[in-house]
Amino acid sequence: MHAYPYTITISSEKGGVGKTTLATNLAIYLKAMREDLPVTILSFDNHFTIDKMFEIKKRGDDTADVHALLLGAAAREVVQTGQYGVGFIPSSTELGDINERFKGPMTLTRMLAESGLSGIVIIDTRPDLNILTQNALYAADRVLIPVKDMPSLENCKNIFALFDQRGIDKKSLALIPCLIDSRIKFDGLFKDQKTLLRAFAVNRGYRCLDTYISKSPKVESLNTNPDGKIYPILTHARGTEVHSQFMEITRDILRSVDATRETRACLFHRWLLEKESRKKESYLARLEGLAERCLICGSLLAETPHGRSFYFETSDRAARGFLHGDCMSDMLCSTLYGLNSSSQAYTAARLAVADKAARAVSLLAPRLTGADSQLDYRQFSLNGEQLLRKNVEMPGFDSGEFDGLNDKLYLLLNEALAGFEGKLREGSWLAVYPVDPANPEAVLHEEYYKTIQKVQQCIARELETT
Ligand SMILES: Nc1ncnc2c1ncn2[C@@H]1O[C@H](COP(=O)(O)OP(=O)(O)OP(=O)(O)O)[C@@H](O)[C@H]1O
Ligand SMILES: [Mg+2]
Ligand SMILES: [Zn+2]
Repeated sequence: MHAYPYTITISSEKGGVGKTTLATNLAIYLKAMREDLPVTILSFDNHFTIDKMFEIKKRGDDTADVHALLLGAAAREVVQTGQYGVGFIPSSTELGDINERFKGPMTLTRMLAESGLSGIVIIDTRPDLNILTQNALYAADRVLIPVKDMPSLENCKNIFALFDQRGIDKKSLALIPCLIDSRIKFDGLFKDQKTLLRAFAVNRGYRCLDTYISKSPKVESLNTNPDGKIYPILTHARGTEVHSQFMEITRDILRSVDATRETRACLFHRWLLEKESRKKESYLARLEGLAERCLICGSLLAETPHGRSFYFETSDRAARGFLHGDCMSDMLCSTLYGLNSSSQAYTAARLAVADKAARAVSLLAPRLTGADSQLDYRQFSLNGEQLLRKNVEMPGFDSGEFDGLNDKLYLLLNEALAGFEGKLREGSWLAVYPVDPANPEAVLHEEYYKTIQKVQQCIARELETT
């Protein structure tokens, strides 16, 4: 069975509010309180605090880090087993350029969904709301927003606004008062910092954890020591209030983890798979109902599959299928230039025609006005822009006679557009698209087929106006 992680993101636009301290120590407490639960931590910051804390062996010039992960490396290739049994992904100083590549807001959710990581993933973010932070926010089952004072509380509104803009449920978001100095007391209703912050938070409609984290000189000292290491609260500040506060927060988180049946990663993955299978179904549906023969030479395509270089579709989608490249070129050569295979200039002209047709969409729209019926022939780019227009006489078409030169065209029009009693369907036309003869069916895949649908619409619009 595919595994999905429960993701916790620590975020605040304000610097120095205790994000990294919370992220790293939370990882350690989670692991300590539930040994068999895999915990993985990563940071989008370039402080290397995570590395200093969890690295067992100094890394060489290994590039298996967060940067590699964001560029698509598999999670198992970049996660290292670290101190205290916590898995970590080494930090990177190279994340600046990622901002441009990381266009979609759900890219990280997708990566986590497909990562195969299980247990808990903790993401420490930079003090800003750049695209990476946004990705981490949307990927999270829980977002913890440390606030230490009024300015950091004010800043929260940007995170809440992001969720509103995208219409994402804000129930994952919760504030946590941090760096609370319990010596500071106020007179009146709000007797201390945490009560004041919580009251303001609730007043603004923000959810706030019941727990808070006190400011402690002991905790502050954990990253300043002769070894240049950063020590955990669990092992080096057990006597502090902060230790029991972390226990409290960790219990709270574990309760949510246990109560969560489907994580964001799991839900997103299911949605992706459903989307894929819908795509596959539409592809299969498109494969069905294709003409069995090349409508120009009449041969069965199952027997002559080579050289299927064009796909055609009528305006009403009633007829669709592939045409041989040679058949299409021959037809255009005689229809547009009055050349047939006995003409001298034929070979050269045919090459030129084939080359042009292979780079443009050909529109064939018959205009039936009795004896002087005409073909409105146009070429369009794949952006739907009209490149060329030519009117071609169609002598004898109406009376069903073949004139030797336009036979192939007449065959194609009749086969593709004939309706009741052999008359062409009123106002119908067909467009012919160049495709890769090595894999003509690729044109029916979702992405490519969208282009065709767009061009068909452009053509219809163009025909209405001119
Ligand atoms: N509970 C605490 N008591 C005392 N000092 C603390 C506490 N938590 C964190 N600190 C100290 O506050 C400073 C900032 O903490 P930290 O690096 O965790 O914040 P941050 O929000 O990650 O900062 P940045 O935005 O720069 O990444 C550090 O020096 C840290 O040691
Ligand atoms: Mg930090
Ligand atoms: Zn053919």
